[in-house]
Amino acid sequence: MLSEVVASAPGKVILFGEHFVVEDQPAIAVAISKRARVRVKPNDSGKYCIYSRELDLSEEFGLHESRKQSPLYPIVVAARAVENRAGVEVGLDIYIESEIPPSAGMGSSAAVAVATVAATSELLELNLGKEDISNIAYRAETIVHGKPSGIDNTISTFGGAIAFRKSEGFLQLEADFKPVKIVLADTGVPRNTGELVRRVLSLKEKYPQIFDPLYYAAGRLAVEAAKLIERGEFEEVGRLMNVNHGLLSAIGVSILELEHLVYTARRAGALGAKLTGAGGGGFMVALCRKEDTDKVARELEKIAKRVIVGEISEEGVKIEKKV
Ligand code: MEV
Repeated sequence: MLSEVVASAPGKVILFGEHFVVEDQPAIAVAISKRARVRVKPNDSGKYCIYSRELDLSEEFGLHESRKQSPLYPIVVAARAVENRAGVEVGLDIYIESEIPPSAGMGSSAAVAVATVAATSELLELNLGKEDISNIAYRAETIVHGKPSGIDNTISTFGGAIAFRKSEGFLQLEADFKPVKIVLADTGVPRNTGELVRRVLSLKEKYPQIFDPLYYAAGRLAVEAAKLIERGEFEEVGRLMNVNHGLLSAIGVSILELEHLVYTARRAGALGAKLTGAGGGGFMVALCRKEDTDKVARELEKIAKRVIVGEISEEGVKIEKKV
């Protein structure tokens, strides 16, 4: 066994199809240049000792202990699943550092889970492939989100831009994003993805005749957008992002603060703007021509809690260091 491994994985932005993807509609996501880093070392305590810098939290878990209410428990699930696969039981020190804002729709929990699985697998010399890393991270995500679609762990593992469908897996998109940038703006309103997903699903169950056509439209939007992205027709991509935002408002996951950011970005010259992730707070994403990015970011800075100009990252999960 090695004595220390550091792995990192990117956060994500969903450009099309959040929520609809949970019910098997296609969606599109991109990886961003903000990453979560996880350092894993074996210890002699027979426990998982987990420390998160962002949450300023450290906790110890017995090797068989289940403590679902802890925000650090998904990390235990991820590490334990890798140990089970390797057929070993060892205590681990796990240190988490992340540049991805938590509870904001940018896939921080999935990135931490993916990096934890990759680092633990490398430490135990298990050499899991990306498919396995993503699948194990998905198990940790079920603790956080209840019934996730799998899009977050997939994009965080593979990087780049993907079209994803729950029942079919994913396709890497051949896209050149050089003419555009994404600007992310934070409402500062925290929310719970699992709760929002459940709320949307129960409305859909209550009004299937109204919701089914909205879900169908969202799926067609993502398919059309994938073609436009590959052809570099970003003006049209932006237009469809606006339509997608309308559908997300219709299913009840926008809030006033998100609408304010969306309309400010569009008025400042964004090609398109929508909420991203579960909604109910968190971030808005705007797609901008490179030359318009500064103006859009400046206008958003006047009203947002924080603004991030995002680069799309080709890089998925990777091992940064092993000793
Ligand atoms: C969360 O990043 C995206 C949602 O569609 C949930 C999911 O796909 O699991 C809201």
